Amino acid sequence: MSEATLKTAILRIRRGLLNEVARYHDYNVPYEEGMSVLDALRWIRANRDSTLAIRYSCINANACKTCMALVNGEVEYTCIARLTPDIIIVEPLPKRPLIRDLVTDTVPDDEKL
Ligand code: FES
Repeated sequence: MSEATLKTAILRIRRGLLNEVARYHDYNVPYEEGMSVLDALRWIRANRDSTLAIRYSCINANACKTCMALVNGEVEYTCIARLTPDIIIVEPLPKRPLIRDLVTDTVPDDEKL
């Protein structure tokens, strides 16, 4: 595939800490058919910004349930949500305390030490 025919997805990601004014960064990610949103987030960490905080464990087995985020306003497992060569807005879960970037505190209160 020539350089001119490569498609790009733009991930618009909410960055920052709890109680900070929301700020969004755009990252261009080379798109390949079959990629997940988590694939794109991992590509960003490996190639563009290693400070991006994300959480995942099983990568694509939908087993660990740790990769949830808002994808275009819908709660999704990012390892299952399919990437499209468009602008994809990725935000942390809205009803959980924010730790940083896309990582929220998902441990139930009665399970905390
Ligand atoms: S990374 Fe495990 S369910 Fe998504």
